[in-house]
Amino acid sequence: MLSVRYIGHSAVWLSDGSTSVIIDPFISGNPVAKVGLETTSHHGLSEAVHADIILVTHAHGDHWGDSVALSKKGGTLFSNFEISTYSERQGAKAVAMNIGGSYKFAGGTIQWFPAWHSSSFPDGTYGGMPMGVFLEFAGKRIYHAGDSALFSDMRLVGERGLDLAFVPIGDHFTMGPEDALKALELLKPKRAVPIHYNTFPPIKQDGQAFARRAQSMGIDSKAMTPGELWEI
Ligand code: NI
Ligand code: MN
Repeated sequence: MLSVRYIGHSAVWLSDGSTSVIIDPFISGNPVAKVGLETTSHHGLSEAVHADIILVTHAHGDHWGDSVALSKKGGTLFSNFEISTYSERQGAKAVAMNIGGSYKFAGGTIQWFPAWHSSSFPDGTYGGMPMGVFLEFAGKRIYHAGDSALFSDMRLVGERGLDLAFVPIGDHFTMGPEDALKALELLKPKRAVPIHYNTFPPIKQDGQAFARRAQSMGIDSKAMTPGELWEI
């Protein structure tokens, strides 16, 4: 069984019961996150996030986020060459990969796909090309689109046969709801979760309305609230 915990924004925390995977761990600065990095209760946060596998789609602060801190707690960070080497210099344990590359870990496989976006660190350092990630984990095929715009090669990811897709709907920096619905036509996932919305004023969207429209396409879609768990 795959447990999906939505942390908020683009941060999702996946578990198969023995291995945990986190994608785009923007936690400590995330205004909507209900979980934190520490076990001690602090600002009402009482659950400590930890992960064996930390996946970072691009270098922007709302995605790279707490990945170094999580790696220092024992996880291994996977990203492109620029993000992994930059994070290593800050003390992370990281594996440098790039678009197209795959990696087998205990319990699953990841493969990086392109994303149409940009990628620089909060200090302005170049973060390489932005990516989306395909993951085979807990017997499921999962895709997280990162901060991508709509692009037709999403069809190639869809050909893998997806059980679950995470797609940004916030508009302004990424796809908006209309383009995200078009992305779902290309991705053809069994299930979909909208991400990257309602974190900051410029990306305010109606997640429930999006989920209903995805449902009408035959896709089991949930606008997950931060902290919510979905077992698949
Ligand atoms: Ni971004
Ligand atoms: Mn972003």
